[in-house]
Amino acid sequence: MADRGYWALALTAFVSSLLVVQADIIKHTPVGQLFVHKLEREKFQNEFEPFLKIYGGRVYNDPMVFKCNRQQFPDLPRWLRFTQRHPYDNGFLYGTPLQENLGKNIIEIFVTNKRSYETFKDRLVINVAPAVKPMPYQAEFFIGKREIEKVLPSDVQEEIKNDIKIIWGTDSLHFVNITSALDRGGRVPLPLAGHYEGVYVKLGSDKPYSTCLLSLQTLEHQRECEVGGKISEYCSRCNNPANCVTWCRSTLIDLSRPVPPAPLPTVGSGILAWGGEFDPPVSPPAKNYIPDYIVTIIIPFVFAIVLALILAYVMCCRREGVQKRDAMTPELQLYHHHTIQGNSSELRNMAQSRGSVPQPLSTLPMFNTRTGERAPPDYPSESIHIPLIMAQQEPNVDTLPRK
Ligand SMILES: *[C@@H]1O[C@H](CO)[C@@H](O)[C@H](O)[C@H]1NC(C)=O
Repeated sequence: MADRGYWALALTAFVSSLLVVQADIIKHTPVGQLFVHKLEREKFQNEFEPFLKIYGGRVYNDPMVFKCNRQQFPDLPRWLRFTQRHPYDNGFLYGTPLQENLGKNIIEIFVTNKRSYETFKDRLVINVAPAVKPMPYQAEFFIGKREIEKVLPSDVQEEIKNDIKIIWGTDSLHFVNITSALDRGGRVPLPLAGHYEGVYVKLGSDKPYSTCLLSLQTLEHQRECEVGGKISEYCSRCNNPANCVTWCRSTLIDLSRPVPPAPLPTVGSGILAWGGEFDPPVSPPAKNYIPDYIVTIIIPFVFAIVLALILAYVMCCRREGVQKRDAMTPELQLYHHHTIQGNSSELRNMAQSRGSVPQPLSTLPMFNTRTGERAPPDYPSESIHIPLIMAQQEPNVDTLPRK
């Protein structure tokens, strides 16, 4: 019984995994040529909202970010790079595979929808094939008014290639590499309209350079660039002003001539030359620290003691108050004494005369402030109700005790 339940579960899991499995995206590219794969947000939007499309719901335009890595590796292969300017832009995987990247390159793409935070995983298989034809003549052009994301779409690549085709005088041209100037130590431009990072575009061909391109190598051209004056741009042509090439930062890379092999390293006998006995350096002479001790400890200490003595003398023997008491004359002392005596006898007289004068009424108990009447003192003691707290009474309320 339990066994059957297990199999049912396994079957459901298998069927659901079949449903979830996505067909891989498969791409072919030869060694030595630029590979570009566009990660389209629109396409992934359909993956996130498969039913919206069917039932004609409203179409979202969600921000998305991509995370790409080689399968079972944390990062992309070295030849492949990823760029996405903004979550509302498409992403691009691009790069030039080398001979050692031949074969299958499996790339995992994780898409995160930044609105719903749903994720989606896709797989891209790049089959790198051997180079179709050698491209011994290569040239790198700098396009100053472009950014990498604006050059990678295939239509812009075509535009640029068409301009170069006319300059080069051949149709057999291929992109070898496209690099942002930022990857070559370029500066991040100001975030203003009309400021771009610039892009290096490398193209290759099996056809030799045109005379136009060869002029890039002339001394005259190099001198003009150093001076920074007017560059004779008789080769330039750009149908779209954004694609215009900066000639002074463009170079030819001629791979047609075989590179001379590096000279072999000279091999020695394998035995080190005798350098003589090891002579350890003598230790430095002992240093006398007494002058340092006197300067840093004794002198400040003596100074501190002298200051303390001066301060003690000033505080104990030269205080202002002490001086004044000495200066007080006997006459002044007598006068003080006299006034004190006079004051106290005056006070004593006043105290004696207190008995003859009647006390102010307000100081007497049971005085009614309104009527000026004094309460009869012969109340029966059990009926007297005097409020304990007089201050709580209204000032005009009769405070006479009630019978
Ligand atoms: C393409 O450009 C990148 C960045 O400058 C560089 O690392 C890479 O080696 C280049 N690849 C080729 C085949 O020139």
